[in-house]
Amino acid sequence: MRAVTISLFGFLLVIAATIISFCDGNSNVLCIESERQALSKFKQHLIDRSNRLSSWVEGEDCCEWVGVFCNNFTGHVKELHLGLHSSSPDIELDDERDVYFQSPERNAYFRSKLGGKINLSLIELKHLSFLDLSNNDFGGLAIPEFIGSMKSLTYLNLSSVKFSRAIPHNLGNLSKLHYLDLGHNSFFEAKTLQWVSGLSSLQYLDLSDANLTKATDWLQATHKLPSLVELHFLRSIVSIDLSSNGVEGVILNGFQNISSLKFLDLSWNSFSSSSTLIWLSNLNRLQFLGLRGVSLQGNFSIAIRNLSSLTHLDLSDNQLEIIEPKCLESLCNLREMDLSNNGIDQEVSEIIESLPRCSLDRLESLNVASNQLSGCLPDQLGQFINLAYLSLSGNSISGPIPFSIANLSSLKLLDVAYNRLNATLPQSLGQLGNLEHLDVSNTMLEGNISEMHFSNLKRLRLFWASNNMLTFKPNPSWIPPFHCESIKLRSWHIGPQFPQWLQFQKNLSVLDISHAEISGVIPIWFWNLSTQFDHINLSYNHLIGEISYLPKSRTVDLMSNLFTGPLPRANSHLEFLFLSKNLFSGSLSNFLCNSSTKLDALDLLDIESNLLSGEIPDCWENQPMLGVLNLGNNNLTGKISRSLGSLRNIMSLKLRTNNLFGEVPSTLQHLAYMVILDLSENQLTGSIPAWNGDKLLNLVVLNLRSNKFQAHIPDQICSLNSLHFLDLGYNNISGAIPKCFSNLKPLDQFYVL
Ligand SMILES: *[C@@H]1O[C@H](CO)[C@@H](O)[C@H](O)[C@H]1NC(C)=O
Ligand SMILES: *[C@@H]1O[C@H](CO)[C@@H](O)[C@H](O)[C@H]1NC(C)=O
Ligand SMILES: *[C@@H]1O[C@H](CO)[C@@H](O)[C@H](O)[C@H]1NC(C)=O
Ligand SMILES: *[C@@H]1O[C@H](CO)[C@@H](O)[C@H](O)[C@H]1NC(C)=O
Ligand SMILES: *[C@@H]1O[C@H](CO)[C@@H](O)[C@H](O)[C@H]1NC(C)=O
Ligand SMILES: *[C@@H]1O[C@H](CO)[C@@H](O)[C@H](O)[C@H]1NC(C)=O
Ligand SMILES: *[C@@H]1O[C@H](CO)[C@@H](O)[C@H](O)[C@H]1NC(C)=O
Ligand SMILES: *[C@@H]1O[C@H](CO)[C@@H](O)[C@H](O)[C@H]1NC(C)=O
Ligand SMILES: *[C@@H]1O[C@H](CO)[C@@H](O)[C@H](O)[C@H]1NC(C)=O
Ligand SMILES: *[C@@H]1O[C@H](CO)[C@@H](O)[C@H](O)[C@H]1NC(C)=O
Ligand SMILES: *[C@@H]1O[C@H](CO)[C@@H](O)[C@H](O)[C@H]1NC(C)=O
Ligand SMILES: *[C@@H]1O[C@H](CO)[C@@H](O)[C@H](O)[C@H]1NC(C)=O
Repeated sequence: MRAVTISLFGFLLVIAATIISFCDGNSNVLCIESERQALSKFKQHLIDRSNRLSSWVEGEDCCEWVGVFCNNFTGHVKELHLGLHSSSPDIELDDERDVYFQSPERNAYFRSKLGGKINLSLIELKHLSFLDLSNNDFGGLAIPEFIGSMKSLTYLNLSSVKFSRAIPHNLGNLSKLHYLDLGHNSFFEAKTLQWVSGLSSLQYLDLSDANLTKATDWLQATHKLPSLVELHFLRSIVSIDLSSNGVEGVILNGFQNISSLKFLDLSWNSFSSSSTLIWLSNLNRLQFLGLRGVSLQGNFSIAIRNLSSLTHLDLSDNQLEIIEPKCLESLCNLREMDLSNNGIDQEVSEIIESLPRCSLDRLESLNVASNQLSGCLPDQLGQFINLAYLSLSGNSISGPIPFSIANLSSLKLLDVAYNRLNATLPQSLGQLGNLEHLDVSNTMLEGNISEMHFSNLKRLRLFWASNNMLTFKPNPSWIPPFHCESIKLRSWHIGPQFPQWLQFQKNLSVLDISHAEISGVIPIWFWNLSTQFDHINLSYNHLIGEISYLPKSRTVDLMSNLFTGPLPRANSHLEFLFLSKNLFSGSLSNFLCNSSTKLDALDLLDIESNLLSGEIPDCWENQPMLGVLNLGNNNLTGKISRSLGSLRNIMSLKLRTNNLFGEVPSTLQHLAYMVILDLSENQLTGSIPAWNGDKLLNLVVLNLRSNKFQAHIPDQICSLNSLHFLDLGYNNISGAIPKCFSNLKPLDQFYVL
């Protein structure tokens, strides 16, 4: 009984201790005074705009500071985790200064980068084994030399910290280092890599983006690294040209001795001859081989033939023309292969048949998009039962998609867009219960689609099938099994009835059912769909009736229908609105000025060729973002409103073919970005404004034809350096054509009278 109690007590103690050490990794130990001072000094020289290091308070236990980890027993600082790890992989991609890509998350992320200087005081941390400063911004500094004397380091991550200049050779003294990541510092350079051979424990080396043009000894160095498993040389070797200098080829052959290598990425370099890479065939433990964008040409086969451990092979963005039938034969572990963006000019069946038989149930991803593959898809496609991603787009593949596609029950993405599948879609497609992304756009498909084609597509999120000759008229009571986010069926035969099944799409963000022979009134449920649209395109149908309000969406395209009545009410999300070629009537002012919602995001407004009447309203200061305004071919009257001059971002202003009269207001001279100004076919009077030439220096098209402008042509027009089209014909202009017209660059079209 007693024994049980004791052991139970002991068990509780263990749990308690675990909880304490879990919550508070450095319990019971205090940091060492000299190390605390070293860290404080290190902090002093950093720039910490977002105050990430606010917990680094003097006088407190530095083992509690954020990013600092001490040895639980000795109290020595052993790890410094000061790297930034963004949850969104794209966040680093765009340039920080690019205002068009600013978002609050990105701003916060960039603010939290540490900057400043790395103080020598760090070398006081004699037991530091882990140092991660990745993704901070030490813009332009060189790696401090003293890092080479921090002999305890086993992990050093200086990835993407904007260090520049030469990599110090004494890093080679860090003989305990397992991981060295110096990747993505585009201004690094190294004249030699001899020092790398000192890193005898190294398993992982990333020198992506460093300039190794001069480091001709890089392979001599790396082949002395018996433990090396991962090697990243993305964009490093700028050019290796065997034809002009045999030496580099010999150096490359040194790679064959790094037999431990499992991961090799040489993407975005330039190997002018495939035979330069023949040594690859000895890396028989290689699992990942990245040769993207390395200028491989022609027939690159032999080098990969024996790499039987390969799981990932990326040969995309090269100029390959042929895949030798036997060269993939022994790649029995292949899971992902990317051959996209080459010039492979073979029958697609040859490619499918050359995929290794022994990896039939392993292959998960095959991308052969953007090549010149022809012929029909073979039935064998159905044998790759674990295939999840299949992209064949942008080739010249013809004939039907084989029925055996139904066997690919793991398929998540099928992209056959931009081919010549001059057949119909097989119904068996409807059995792919895991399919999320189906793109069959622009591929000459024809025939009837039925509900059966979708019978089991429960997970479909994206269905793109525009520009085919397909007919789809399901039973009006059909409820689709999927909830798509994006549906594009442009140029299908869908009408005359509005597709009822769309009312069950609760996640729809993009919808294109343009050119689809749909007539009648848009059903009421469509306006009440609860989804937040981004893009709606119903253009080029025969839709009728009045529209009282537009659905919430950034882009709405209702062009070329038969809509009548006043302009619909819009909402503040609207950026691009196309209403041209309809029968909308009444005035513009309700739409623009009297609405309670501000259209302050509006970028494009096209209401050309409707029956609008009344005056152009005078409230344009409410649309500060407007870049394109087309009110042509209506029945607008009155003067051109002065507030149009507040559209400071406008590039195209078309008011042609209305009944506008009076003078052109001088406020238009503020529209400095204007490229197209078309005021033709109105009743405008006064003289041709001289500021056309003074202020609107970007004008490419100036059309004032068929008005009542008087007086002479101002000389200033000659300063319009970009002008391609000038039409001043059918006015009451007197006087001679200015002499300076001979200085105008040749115009595509030029009419004066
Ligand atoms: C020190 O504490 C950490 C955090 O609780 C724990 O993961 C680690 O195992 C401990 N180390 C030792 C040597 O006890
Ligand atoms: C270094 O840090 C970067 C960015 O946080 C990360 O992506 C990378 O995997 C790290 N390198 C190593 C070897 O852990
Ligand atoms: C490191 O800090 C000390 C004292 O704060 C300072 O004198 C020295 O210049 C600094 N060195 C570097 C390289 O920043
Ligand atoms: C460190 O490396 C440098 C340069 O490679 C070398 O000159 C120096 O002797 C090395 N120092 C030690 C202590 O190994
Ligand atoms: C790499 O360095 C060489 C000289 O060492 C220079 O000529 C070349 O322009 C550099 N390449 C890049 C991409 O900076
Ligand atoms: C590769 O290793 C072999 C045997 O260990 C050696 O003879 C050969 O010189 C090495 N090759 C290169 C290029 O270093
Ligand atoms: C491709 O290269 C291999 C090996 O060099 C050769 O056997 C084959 O005939 C070549 N194929 C073509 C089509 O050039
Ligand atoms: C591939 O392996 C076979 C047998 O192991 C061997 O005969 C052949 O030379 C190797 N090919 C290459 C290119 O290394
Ligand atoms: C489809 O799968 C079945 C069984 O899973 C198999 O018998 C048949 O051969 C496969 N068809 C094709 C064309 O791969
Ligand atoms: C499809 O195109 C291929 C190649 O152009 C042609 O051989 C075949 O007869 C066509 N099939 C149909 C049904 O039009
Ligand atoms: C498509 O269906 C229509 C009406 O059901 C029918 O008249 C037509 O022949 C079918 N077309 C094809 C290619 O099956
Ligand atoms: C255009 O408006 C005028 C009045 O401003 C009116 O007399 C005329 O009938 C209208 N024309 C059309 C086609 O609506």
